[in-house]
Amino acid sequence: MNNSTLTADSIDVYNPDNYLQGIPHQQFAWLRENAPVFWHKHPDGGGYWVVSKHADVMQVARDHKTFSAQKGFVMVDDLPPDILERTQSQLLGMDPPDHGPIRRAVITHFTRGMLAALEPKVHNIARSVVESARDKTETDFIESLACELPTAVICSILDIPQDMWTQIRHWSDKQTAGSDPDLGGSDEEIQQASIDMGTYGFELAVERKASGGDDLICQLLESEVDGHTVSEVDFASLFVQLTVAGNETTRGLISSGMYELVQRPELYAELESTPAGLPTAIEEMLRWTCPLHYFRRTATCDTELAGCTIREGDRVVMMYSSANFDEDEFDNAMTFDIKRQHNPHMAFGYGIHLCLGANLARMEARLFFEEFFKNFSRIELNGEPSRIRSNNINGYKKMPVILTSR
Ligand code: HEM
Repeated sequence: MNNSTLTADSIDVYNPDNYLQGIPHQQFAWLRENAPVFWHKHPDGGGYWVVSKHADVMQVARDHKTFSAQKGFVMVDDLPPDILERTQSQLLGMDPPDHGPIRRAVITHFTRGMLAALEPKVHNIARSVVESARDKTETDFIESLACELPTAVICSILDIPQDMWTQIRHWSDKQTAGSDPDLGGSDEEIQQASIDMGTYGFELAVERKASGGDDLICQLLESEVDGHTVSEVDFASLFVQLTVAGNETTRGLISSGMYELVQRPELYAELESTPAGLPTAIEEMLRWTCPLHYFRRTATCDTELAGCTIREGDRVVMMYSSANFDEDEFDNAMTFDIKRQHNPHMAFGYGIHLCLGANLARMEARLFFEEFFKNFSRIELNGEPSRIRSNNINGYKKMPVILTSR
């Protein structure tokens, strides 16, 4: 569909099928130009606001008083009350004052200094994931390479026994790919995965507390911030979030980032010979591949956004994968530029909920690509990759490749 042939009636950025070919750039471009805050129909009979411009997305993300994460959680589909209540014990689904103390207790373990200390550990994992694929030639990049790293890293940071890593990845995958028939499950299965994972997290907390050790879980359980002590129940919920939030997203960054490089052999060669360029290139991969299309807020009062009246209770969707291509913010927005200097992309959100794992994800991606370049002299596609069917998760589920090891 051509941008100029679109009309308000033809816009559909809800239907997951419309993401099967990637970000629906033409629809987003139309929205940014014609209706930057757009009332979109929802299949439940109601509607929601799609916010497509960078400045407006930032405005919503920044104003957590007017735009609540807690009132209706962060997904565009409303949740049944019992499930909504459960999300309100997650950082992602909390507003101040609940949000701050827990966020501060966790963030001290994800500072740049803490991450620098973790780097050798993450490097070893990246090396072993890449090396274990060395004897494969025709393989699926997602299954053999991109899948393993994020879960292995977070599990290793939390000192979780290795025989549980695959189980944790399966629980996590179930919860993120709901609308893809190949990946998701029934609502019951998805809920069960979340409950099983939370139960495991709770047991882990009880066990670690009793052990009186000094690992990250024990440190978290001992931390007291603003009078709030992280309890075993808080940890169970954090555990689910840390593993789920960093799993599909980091996998998406690595695999979609690799896909973009494979499409542009000259950029691949440039990074392979100059890995020092990776941090800047990874920012561009984040902008371009934007592993999460959106998160939602709910208006707490009547307000105005870009001249539109938003009513209390309205759903407001921050379309990160549109904001990242806003011509008013990015020069040559439709060019994949691995040397882009001004790159305030929204892939990690903004404001009080800014991704807590952002620097960890950046580090994982950098170490992964460094190790990949060291171990393989060539990667080619071996057929068309297929995308996850989702209006929220932006990534591939299969990417057949031919690898040549060094
Ligand atoms: C490329 C990888 C990643 C992407 C694109 C990503 C994206 C995001 C985004 C957009 C948000 C903002 C949510 C909002 O505003 O409602 C967020 C929050 C969060 N992310 Fe990430 N994430 C990534 C990796 C990770 C990793 C590795 C971890 C785990 C260590 C993680 C843990 C979290 C947590 C706990 C939050 C909630 C923070 C809060 O509400 O205060 N993420 N992420």
